[in-house]
Amino acid sequence: MREELEKLKNELSNKIGASRDLEDLEKIRVQFLGKKGAITLLMRSMNELPASEKPLLGKLLNELKQAASRELDERKLELQEQLRQKQQEAERIDITLPGRSILTGRRHPITLVMEEIEDIFACMGFQISEGPDIELDYYNFEALNFPVDHPTRDMQDSFYINKDVLLRTHTSPVQVRTMEKMAPTLPVRIIAPGKVYRRDDDITHSPMFHQVEGLVVDHGISLADLKGTLLLFAREMFGPERQIRLRPSFFPFTEPSAEVDISCMFCHGLGCRTCSDSGWLEILGAGMVHPNVLQICGYDPELVSGFAFGMGVERIAMLKYGIDDIRLFYTNDLRMLRP
Ligand code: FA5
Repeated sequence: MREELEKLKNELSNKIGASRDLEDLEKIRVQFLGKKGAITLLMRSMNELPASEKPLLGKLLNELKQAASRELDERKLELQEQLRQKQQEAERIDITLPGRSILTGRRHPITLVMEEIEDIFACMGFQISEGPDIELDYYNFEALNFPVDHPTRDMQDSFYINKDVLLRTHTSPVQVRTMEKMAPTLPVRIIAPGKVYRRDDDITHSPMFHQVEGLVVDHGISLADLKGTLLLFAREMFGPERQIRLRPSFFPFTEPSAEVDISCMFCHGLGCRTCSDSGWLEILGAGMVHPNVLQICGYDPELVSGFAFGMGVERIAMLKYGIDDIRLFYTNDLRMLRP
């Protein structure tokens, strides 16, 4: 019996030593100390032994059981520590790795240009005025001296909601709304930024685009004031060496009217692809407020005068950022929003 116990002890020690994980160890515990384990069965069989052998064998068996428990516990701690180290190794964070960059956006180029235009005119004492995108035919055309059914309305191909209501084709109706509200107070000095809509669609024309309107009304306002204001704007926006030129044009609500060009910033006026070899780039329409418009809005054209202009924001953004297709602004191209 002694030998048997010795053998069992060695077998147990060998198995514990060879165990590779906690699961292995648990199996060994059950095999030796479980309900039907080798040591447990031996303890049960004590009853069958002669009384003379019982004390000694009982003592040896108890020692074996205690030694087995101790060895199992020690190995368990070892295996737990091994497991903990393995997990720690797997979860280790390499703090020297560069962080993953977070994708941040930035403001859309159209927003940036609108804000820049607003800042430039705010510095010249202009206030911001706004009007609705869904506009009455009266404000969009009639009060701006576009007679009903007159061919001059063909200049701006429009989206009508019904006979009297349309998506505004330009920001000029804000001129009328502002003067109506302010008359006879002077001076009027506003810009009106916003969205406008036309039945256009090609690489330089979008069905929805942005304009910034400008309007100044006061005593003695002349074409020289218009020219000086726009020259200052062009230089602030596109650089101090810019020149502007006014070409005669026609708008029903200004008289005289002009298309305003700036000297090309790509070829410095020498002629290139962007300016179609002319050295000039058209950026806006402008003119002296027509007496009929002043009158309809409550100002006496004999006493006061004014100038107005309207610029396409996309056109300015395209020049500023070298974008050659207007549709890129509105097709969720991420290049527009990356820093
Ligand atoms: C007007 O809209 C006038 N209301 C401007 C004005 C205001 C004149 C005050 C006089 C006094 P025009 O149709 O030319 O004018 O448009 C002005 C600018 O809007 C153009 O120079 C162009 O840059 C831009 N534009 C016109 N149509 C489109 C379009 N479909 N897509 C993008 N930009 C456009």
